[in-house]
Amino acid sequence: MGIRIRGTGRYIPEKILTNEDLTRMVDTSDEWITTRTGIKTRHIAAADEFTSDLAAKAAKSALDLAGMAPQTLDLIIVSTVTPDKVFPNTASIVQTKIGAGKCVCFDIEAACSGLLYAFNVAYGMMASPIGYKRALIIGAEKLSSIVDWTDRSTCVLFGDGASAVVLENDGRLDTPGFYVAGKLAADGSCADILQIPAGGSSMPASHATIDARMHSIRMGGPKTFQLAVTSMTGACRELLEETGITPDQIRWAIPHQANARIISAVAARLNIPERVYVNVDRYGNTSSASIGICLDELNRSGQLASGDLVLTAAFGAGLTWAAQLIRWI
Ligand code: UT7
Repeated sequence: MGIRIRGTGRYIPEKILTNEDLTRMVDTSDEWITTRTGIKTRHIAAADEFTSDLAAKAAKSALDLAGMAPQTLDLIIVSTVTPDKVFPNTASIVQTKIGAGKCVCFDIEAACSGLLYAFNVAYGMMASPIGYKRALIIGAEKLSSIVDWTDRSTCVLFGDGASAVVLENDGRLDTPGFYVAGKLAADGSCADILQIPAGGSSMPASHATIDARMHSIRMGGPKTFQLAVTSMTGACRELLEETGITPDQIRWAIPHQANARIISAVAARLNIPERVYVNVDRYGNTSSASIGICLDELNRSGQLASGDLVLTAAFGAGLTWAAQLIRWI
């Protein structure tokens, strides 16, 4: 079906936080962060810049590239773990900020896998008889607002940013679309290894939860690392087996940018180390924004040609994971 990617966009906040800056905040070193994660810098949004602002800027750049007016959108999906507020959803706030009409708006919360979940949901809604024609999907995060800046094991990892993709259904059944195959999965039995313990219905905010810093990210790093490698590798292998596509046919692999060592381990297992896109050194882990930022960098630097196959894979809290094969048209 002729559902195509018409535009991509990204927005990265101006302020840069270097490893050197972090050495003045926690007991760490540039050497430790670089060798264990590959991260050199990450960007931090301004105090008055919210997730919806990052999302709206990425969305506008994607719509501009697509040459599409915001009023013509039928659907906006925002993937985020850092919504402006618990409710309303951030997509509705973005709708107003970009000047879209009264289109369908909702958020998806699948952590770092969220953009790939959003791709699949949007594709399903566009391919269904209901027939949404134009969709905007966004991955946007202000992770600096949920990081514990006293916890050296997590605060060095994350950054802020947003990415957006505009999809359009040309209504024809005889033209190829972007979607080749996708795989979504989750395992709730590992929910505790990566979480924010308080602030939800199981532990509402109180003085005690604030004093114990329970409103920020808690992560079992080594376990998360191991599951990231096995789940992303497994999902990619399944996709390749099911489609009969071989690693040498993949133009670019875009894994979620959490840690350069995770990316290398997945790339080595899939046997595509030299065509794996990496920018975690500049942005750190931007959760659901990360894959779309990579896609936009590749697109705008002219490194994608018509017909190229792009393999994406993500992993995040939930646990959730996903892989998707995109045909660039
Ligand atoms: O988006 C998906 C979610 N996140 C991820 O995918 C992250 C997955 N996990 C990781 O990337 C890695 O596990 C980390 C980068 C978080 C940690 O690397 P590691 O090689 O697994 O280190 P570790 O947690 O086993 O810690 C090794 C040592 C510990 O010291 P001891 O116990 O050996 O004395 C830590 O206390 O490194 C220490 N350490 C640090 N030292 C300096 C932990 N964080 C730091 C730090 N600076 N920032």
